[in-house]
Amino acid sequence: MAVKHFLQFRDLTRDELGYVFQRTRIIKERFKHYQPYHPLADRTLAMIFEKSSTRTRLSFEAGMHQLGGAAIYLNTRDTQLGRGEPVEDAAEVISRMVDIVMIRTFEQDIIERFAAHSRVPVINGLTNEYHPCQILADICTYIETRGPIQGKTVAWIGDSNNMCNTWLQAAEILDFNVHVSTPPGYEVEPERANLFGTDHYQSFADPIDACRAADLVTTDVWTSMGFEAENAARQKAFADWQVDADMMRVARSDALFMHCLPAHRGEEVAAEVIDGPQSVVWEEAANRLHAQKALMEYLLLGRIEK
Ligand code: CP
Ligand code: NVA
Repeated sequence: MAVKHFLQFRDLTRDELGYVFQRTRIIKERFKHYQPYHPLADRTLAMIFEKSSTRTRLSFEAGMHQLGGAAIYLNTRDTQLGRGEPVEDAAEVISRMVDIVMIRTFEQDIIERFAAHSRVPVINGLTNEYHPCQILADICTYIETRGPIQGKTVAWIGDSNNMCNTWLQAAEILDFNVHVSTPPGYEVEPERANLFGTDHYQSFADPIDACRAADLVTTDVWTSMGFEAENAARQKAFADWQVDADMMRVARSDALFMHCLPAHRGEEVAAEVIDGPQSVVWEEAANRLHAQKALMEYLLLGRIEK
């Protein structure tokens, strides 16, 4: 049977996602009640980081430990990957030694090449193009707070980056809408987002219009990792794309605010919003742990009845 990877959001079907959301709820509930659950005893996760991380490293490492397995942290600096070993060769070797791999890297092509040579499941822990584990956690957070996301409207304010692309893929699979507002020159690139079409999103020139009647307002940093050279230009271009109280006011009265973190208060989000009553950013971050545990369980064990 072909190895199942999670390299972009649409690698899981709507049905599989429904299963993973359900398992997330069960695994989280057990964890909250201090019930040990070790389905991945003796399994090892390799985590390869070519970019910085707090949440992704911690949630995968703690998550694997809590499932009874072990996690090994590797980065480009200390491994032969940083000295030019071909990614294909690294995949052949690493996937003979561990049971599952998570990679945070630059171009999507790198993780695709790794996966093509891997004997074990590969999970995207963020690339320039996508951040599927984050959206998995974000949607779990929406569902547990407000119920089904189908038919709802998500307002995406800011850069058409890895987070935006992944929201757009998720909208197609789970049948919700995304209102996108980006500064001129930073618009969505449907091909880079790898979308089936344009039915599930609309673009708005003014960010406040994107927020009208939204069920969820979300944003991310103006400058993603790997794009630091563009920071000065981006600071200017994105100045009017700060999620503030006026934007939240035109959203639905029960709208949530999410941010994958780390956040820059006073840039992409006003402090009163991220620290305000509609913000669920801490639960969103915490759900990385639970959603990824459900994801690893599914990729390694398939569907289970427990
Ligand atoms: N949201 C997220 O992926 O955070 P880290 O960069 O800290 O892993
Ligand atoms: N878009 C951001 C997300 C960080 C978790 C980045 O790629 O740097």
